[in-house]
Amino acid sequence: MRVLVLLGAPGAGKGTQAAILAQRLGLPHVATGDLFRAAVRAGTSLGREAQKYMALGELVPDAITVAMLLERLDRPDAREGVVLDGFPRNRAQAEALESALLTRGERVELALLIDVPAEELVGRLSGRYVCRLGGHPYHIIENPPAIPGICDTDGSPLEQRDDDRPETVRARLTVQLAPLQGVIEFYRSRGVLRTVDGRQPIALVSRGLIEALEPVTPHL
Ligand code: AP5
Repeated sequence: MRVLVLLGAPGAGKGTQAAILAQRLGLPHVATGDLFRAAVRAGTSLGREAQKYMALGELVPDAITVAMLLERLDRPDAREGVVLDGFPRNRAQAEALESALLTRGERVELALLIDVPAEELVGRLSGRYVCRLGGHPYHIIENPPAIPGICDTDGSPLEQRDDDRPETVRARLTVQLAPLQGVIEFYRSRGVLRTVDGRQPIALVSRGLIEALEPVTPHL
């Protein structure tokens, strides 16, 4: 099982790049944010609980998040591996993932950090639109759809995420950057961290990530 982790601050471009990498690698793109938003839309008790934290820009408690992620890893389509986006978000989640993988004789192959300075993140998030059906991200200036307001991939309408309102964006950045640092240190200490400059255009960030994967996946 190949487990690749995409790391980055809120708005760094994890979702954009995870979708591209997952397609190139033929692995599912597993985003804990997408799993939570699907649960919110479905009105499940997990969704109702998660929504309380997401609306405040806070992390959903580890017990809920880790259980949901491990259940997702057990599904048949993840047998060959996954591209993880938005998990782990703190050191405790990184340790939980490491322990779960160890029981299967596996480990995180690489943790790819998309590095974007905090001052750029607000503009990215406030200009973002995502499609209603698949959550595919666009940006009003940097990555607009071919037809305004419509997703290129699945034709569904584009909308703003609730947590991309300026006050929630500020809360997300205030609360979530410090725990991310713990995850970065965790993977650095295990020798699997690779960093790509996320200020570049989307295609160049993709190229950087693919180059970082070269030693483990040549000719990607
Ligand atoms: P989640 O959905 O994971 O949100 P996030 O981490 O805040 O990340 P985003 O989806 O906002 O940004 P992204 O890095 O994917 O960037 P994107 O590619 O869209 O989580 C939402 C919430 O769920 C969390 O706040 C938390 O409450 C909860 N949650 C999720 N996981 C959790 C966990 N593990 N533990 C606890 N709680 C959890 O790009 C952003 C914008 O920039 C787009 O408009 C895009 O078009 C544009 N863009 C992308 N790349 C570039 C580029 N290179 N140049 C210019 N623009 C670019």
